[in-house]
Amino acid sequence: MTSQLYDIKQMSVEHCAQVYAIEQASQAHPWSEALIKSCLHPRYFNLVCLGNNQVAGFLIADMVVDELSLLNICVAPHARRQGIAQQLHQYMINFAKQNQVHKVWLEVRSDNTEAFNLYQKLGYQPISIRKNYYAAGVDALNMQLMLK
Ligand SMILES: CC(C)(COP(=O)(O)OP(=O)(O)OC[C@H]1O[C@@H](n2cnc3c(N)ncnc32)[C@H](O)[C@@H]1OP(=O)(O)O)[C@@H](O)C(=O)NCCC(=O)NCCS
Repeated sequence: MTSQLYDIKQMSVEHCAQVYAIEQASQAHPWSEALIKSCLHPRYFNLVCLGNNQVAGFLIADMVVDELSLLNICVAPHARRQGIAQQLHQYMINFAKQNQVHKVWLEVRSDNTEAFNLYQKLGYQPISIRKNYYAAGVDALNMQLMLK
């Protein structure tokens, strides 16, 4: 990991255009910039990873009582495989543990190998599958991580 080169902080409005650019470069069906901005609402837990003051990755989660739902985690193509997603996730887990969160869950496309491998490495277990949930008959996999 190259943690010294990056700074992780809470997402704010000045980051949203760069977050949207990473989202567009990374997802087949990217979130709109308006949707990203709506996640600045305090009910969400948001992080950006900055390198040279540029956004290299972000994470967006939704907190409901004692559960966190990991809605989006994305790293700019040029910054991948340097441990940024793992670092963003660790910040989220630290927050979760400080806030009595017991469970994190997420949904991932069954054909997203990078994300599936990431979540497995982070300790998530598959708990259910939604057949043909996405276009072209791609299944959605629900995964969860129990926290002590
Ligand atoms: C998935 C994603 C967030 C990973 O970000 P990253 O910063 O490159 O991930 P890390 O460097 O922290 O890698 C952690 C682990 O993820 C897995 N992984 C990441 N990229 C991978 C790839 N291209 N192929 C296989 N496994 C991969 C590996 O297990 C890796 O551990 P390793 O490097 O020891 O093998 C990034 O590829 C991405 O933004 N993808 C597009 C958006 C997306 O699909 N987001 C998730 C669903 S919303």
